[in-house]
Amino acid sequence: MNIFIGQNPAATACPMPPPTPPITALPQLADLARQRLDPAVWAFLSGGAADELTLRASTQAWQELPLWPRVLRPLSGGHTRVALAGRELAHPILLAPVALQRLLHPEGEWASALAAAAQGAGVILSTQTSVPMQRVAQAVLGDAGRGPLWFQLYWQMDRGFNQALVQQAESAGFEAIVLTVDAPVQGVRDAERQAGFAPPAGIHAVHLRDAPAPPAAADTYCAGLPAHAPTWDDVAWLQAHTHLPVWLKGVLHPLDARQAQGLGVAGLIVSNHGGRTLDTAPATATALPRVRAAVGAQLPLIVDGGIRRGTDVLKAMALGANAVLVGRPLMWALAA
Ligand code: FNR
Ligand code: LAC
Repeated sequence: MNIFIGQNPAATACPMPPPTPPITALPQLADLARQRLDPAVWAFLSGGAADELTLRASTQAWQELPLWPRVLRPLSGGHTRVALAGRELAHPILLAPVALQRLLHPEGEWASALAAAAQGAGVILSTQTSVPMQRVAQAVLGDAGRGPLWFQLYWQMDRGFNQALVQQAESAGFEAIVLTVDAPVQGVRDAERQAGFAPPAGIHAVHLRDAPAPPAAADTYCAGLPAHAPTWDDVAWLQAHTHLPVWLKGVLHPLDARQAQGLGVAGLIVSNHGGRTLDTAPATATALPRVRAAVGAQLPLIVDGGIRRGTDVLKAMALGANAVLVGRPLMWALAA
């Protein structure tokens, strides 16, 4: 009997394509996604605002924090479970809300939510979902092992429209509302503008088709959108108009965190929107311990931005987070 160690000689006669290396780290997924996506969609997904200083700083800040190991501790019984929002979760990782996921895969948010549920990860569905929220909820609500299912709200200029959106989310089975507060205007994303990104026909924010648009103004940055951006009064209004817990996403300053706490929010997501809105905003690894110090031990805090490794998750927890969100890496996976 011939036992081949290494290459089978038969394979030399009929060459096989080189084996694809197994995916062992996120940069490989990013490469695959980049190869498969239209360059303009890649620019939309990967880009940050302006010079991308915040985008880079966010990843680096986690990397630059060293872990100081302690040795000879008893290690049995370790686990990744955490308590969040009155539930025990298998681990502290949730999917960040990411708009228009059908740009990355025909099944978009539906596929992401199913994958998340299979991994026990929570999902925050964007207002700008390209798959109806009801379809996403139906796909995962019956899965006993799934994580939380929350709806992210981009404040719309008409309160009635916001109320209708929130009511849809409530009836579809979403368990919390996450109001994003760090993007009153779209960030100036140079790479995306250079690439001329525009969603192709057929991929759009399905729940915003009938949203009232702000009146056209000559100077939209100063007279258009900002005039309709949410304020603290709107947070209180939202809390009064939903029976769901309300989280705020996009808080960095400790004083804002305190103000939100005073309003009785369910928790905060310490986020710089993945470096996509205000360039030179601080890295979240820098903001998180300050926010934790400001709000005390009890208020649930989630952090996102540049989380790329299990060690980043551990560092986030050590700095006071109860859980983390991951954005782009899951979208690389969806595209790949
Ligand atoms: C986002 N993000 C985002 N946030 C939000 O509240 N609503 C949204 O619709 C979107 N859309 C969106 C699209 C894309 C392409 C990206 C990359 C990001 C921000 C997102 O929720 C999260 O805060 C960051 O992506 C976290 O950073 P990482 O994990 O991507 O580094
Ligand atoms: C973005 C908006 C949709 O970051 O939040 O692209």
